[in-house]
Amino acid sequence: MTKKSRRKDTVIAHTAMKPWDNVGIPNPPIYYASTVLFPTVEEFETRDRPPFKGVQYGRSGTPTQFAVEEAVTDLYEGAHRTVTFPSGLGAIAAATITFLKHGDHVLISDSVYGPTRKRVGANLLERAGIEITFYDPLIGAGIEDLIQPNTRMIYMESPGSHTFEVQDVPAITKVARAREIITVIDNTWSSAFFCNPFKLGADIVLEAGTKYLCGHSDAMLGTVTVATEEQFQALKGMQNTLGSRAGADECYLALRGIRTLSVRMERHQKNAMEVATWLAARPEVERVLYPALPTDPGHALWKRDHTGASGLFGVMFGDYPKAAVSAMVDGLDLFGIGASWGGFESLAIPINPKGSRTAVAWPHDNPMVRLHIGLEDPQDLIEDLEEGLGRLNAAR
Ligand SMILES: Cc1ncc(COP(=O)(O)O)c(C=O)c1O
Repeated sequence: MTKKSRRKDTVIAHTAMKPWDNVGIPNPPIYYASTVLFPTVEEFETRDRPPFKGVQYGRSGTPTQFAVEEAVTDLYEGAHRTVTFPSGLGAIAAATITFLKHGDHVLISDSVYGPTRKRVGANLLERAGIEITFYDPLIGAGIEDLIQPNTRMIYMESPGSHTFEVQDVPAITKVARAREIITVIDNTWSSAFFCNPFKLGADIVLEAGTKYLCGHSDAMLGTVTVATEEQFQALKGMQNTLGSRAGADECYLALRGIRTLSVRMERHQKNAMEVATWLAARPEVERVLYPALPTDPGHALWKRDHTGASGLFGVMFGDYPKAAVSAMVDGLDLFGIGASWGGFESLAIPINPKGSRTAVAWPHDNPMVRLHIGLEDPQDLIEDLEEGLGRLNAAR
């Protein structure tokens, strides 16, 4: 069997294993390094030729970073290489600033993760003289009308991690390719396990590895995967310039997490589907925003482009005051109240998309909660939520 013909579960179990480089140990060890020694002056002086090949200095990575980068690349069929960063937001900042410069224009989906807009967009890109237009995530091929002579990048996140609109990625990448505009997508929700945006025409695929790749709520990581050596050199150069290298412990934890990615993702999907279906049938709930539900407006696109759904979805309640929804969430026993998602445990936070849209107003006033469904028994989660809905009604 060739490496190429291996199926995803096998890739996950065997990628980046180099036992005979490491005294027979299956997972690569953690290298802590700043200095790297060379046996001769000549080897020292030619250490960066060709650039970013091998181990040169701690800042540009050691076999610990390279192992998880190799694993993520292997998960995305058609990918060239991956660069890791100390967080998902760090990956977003690097992926955008590498391929944009002063005077360029970027189109960013209105549904992106809040800090992509407020921190990377306002704090980094606009300050660097890069013009941003936010677009309707459902625009599809209509993105063509927003392209300017200086448009260099289209940034997507599908589904958006607050409002869960599924973007027509192939329609957008087709327009972009015809005009040599680079496309970048945040694929954190599906992770490499449920979606390969390279097959949908994307150029650059990033993930907050903090979520499903690490999977245990104990590490932060960002990954940016590119399709060509030219893109890799540009991105790796920027990572080095920023001195933004992922920590060795985090890389080790991510590779450890990736080994169980398939079983975790399948269980997140099963549990989330059970809880989402139950919630959708409740009279207190106006809508569940989960593309895997056949009633979701993004279901057809999701089904076309993804092979499964993760554990994150939104719940829009009926006409309840915010205080009643807070009372419901406060009393939940199995759902923690906290940012992030993708770990083994369930989480619940209030969300208000109204305040973070500029291209198309979020048309709903109803209170919303975002749930991450973890690996608990879904019946226990449903019982916890049922008691919560009792509090919701009592506080109305
Ligand atoms: C969709 C999405 N992308 C990126 C990030 C940023 O990742 P990190 O928290 O690792 O910086 C998050 C974090 O919640 C996210 O939800």
